[in-house]
Amino acid sequence: MHALLRFSKRLLLVCVGFTILSSILATFVILFGEKPNTEVLTKKTEHGQRINKELLRSKFIGTTSVLGKWLLSSEGSLVPPIINKKKGPYLILIWKYGKFLERRHIRRFTNNKFSPWENCTVKCILSYESGDLNIADAVVFHLHLTRNVLELPTRTRWNQRWIFLTDESPIHTFLYGTQELSIYNGLFNWSMTYRMNSDVPVPYGRTISTLFINSPNINFSSDLIKKSKTKLVTVMGSNCGGINGRWKYIRQLKLIFGNDLDIYGKCLNEYLTEKVFWHGYHKLAIPVIMGAPKKDCEKLLPPHSFLHVSDFADPVALANYIHYLNKHNEKYFEYHEWRKYFKVINEHGYFGSISRHYCRVCEALHYNSPTIKVYDNIELFWNKKRDCNINKT
Ligand SMILES: *[C@@H]1O[C@H](CO)[C@@H](O)[C@H](O)[C@H]1NC(C)=O
Ligand SMILES: *[C@@H]1O[C@H](CO)[C@@H](O)[C@H](O)[C@H]1NC(C)=O
Ligand SMILES: *[C@@H]1O[C@H](CO)[C@@H](O)[C@H](O)[C@H]1NC(C)=O
Repeated sequence: MHALLRFSKRLLLVCVGFTILSSILATFVILFGEKPNTEVLTKKTEHGQRINKELLRSKFIGTTSVLGKWLLSSEGSLVPPIINKKKGPYLILIWKYGKFLERRHIRRFTNNKFSPWENCTVKCILSYESGDLNIADAVVFHLHLTRNVLELPTRTRWNQRWIFLTDESPIHTFLYGTQELSIYNGLFNWSMTYRMNSDVPVPYGRTISTLFINSPNINFSSDLIKKSKTKLVTVMGSNCGGINGRWKYIRQLKLIFGNDLDIYGKCLNEYLTEKVFWHGYHKLAIPVIMGAPKKDCEKLLPPHSFLHVSDFADPVALANYIHYLNKHNEKYFEYHEWRKYFKVINEHGYFGSISRHYCRVCEALHYNSPTIKVYDNIELFWNKKRDCNINKT
């Protein structure tokens, strides 16, 4: 994506963010102004039991790093043991773009500076100084802004973790030029992406189970959900592989729903951005997801929390189902039932939410396996052809 386009998108996001924020605040005013509604979703339905079952199925936890497993576990799970001990704190060097990245990861797009270790389970030291290369325990390289492999320094220490960071989908890994990722083979020890199988997972948001420490979230009244049902549909489309049949589909939906339809974001191989977590769940909408394989969304999103276009024959069938949900509250609420057992956490740095990027690096240094690791073939992990279904629709 071009820088200018990205910038205007940010602006748009910020504006949209403010609008949403004020509507959320308004909702809360309503909520606290009145006595909390007692019509709550506590009925132990068959559906609720299904959610529990799905929860206990440990999904794909087996393939992730120690840190990833912990981030996927339910709220209140024990922090992993510190297996890598160091006398002093670990030093994390952000290569070249530390100052630039500050606006998101330190300032959260506000005028304030926040500590990257706020509410972090461990503390490290952050540096933007290239001169610290010889003493840093980890060096983070922001691939999106890297113009050329020659920007990387010469490695002087073998026990230093070189980490490649990308918050973008594989097709947008590099902002500049036509670099092949394979040029970077053999340089990095750890990956840092939104995907949970990264050594340092930095998803835009998470939905974690609260089942094991909280009683069901009784504050979540059906009344609140009803009040916040401002848009019928929120479509999460993928722009990973560019134009294909999806836009035609969306245009058809748009014809049916008009202003009741919002379109956001992407959901491909776990590329669930702030748009899903903020505009979708936070806003109490039911996301309609297209573009991403259903199974990828199922890994990261709560059960029965979204509609997937692959379940419908065509846009008309989907539209009919949405209209049906709109008329049948009990059915509609089933798509919100997960809220009793899950908590949505925004961790992207947008709209003033916290950014966990540097905290996660610090935690990885403490908790992850100390084994030597090298990404000799990065494309086995991060691959635009495979991950973006470029040749498929
Ligand atoms: C940090 O933790 C405190 C205490 O648990 C909590 O009140 C606060 O909201 C947390 N801050 C963030 C940004 O999560
Ligand atoms: C419900 O709301 C009350 C007051 O706002 C709060 O103290 C409590 O933690 C909430 N309970 C849950 C389960 O979120
Ligand atoms: C990091 O990667 C380099 C290859 O670039 C390798 O020589 C070194 O042993 C690795 N270190 C660790 C701690 O994995």
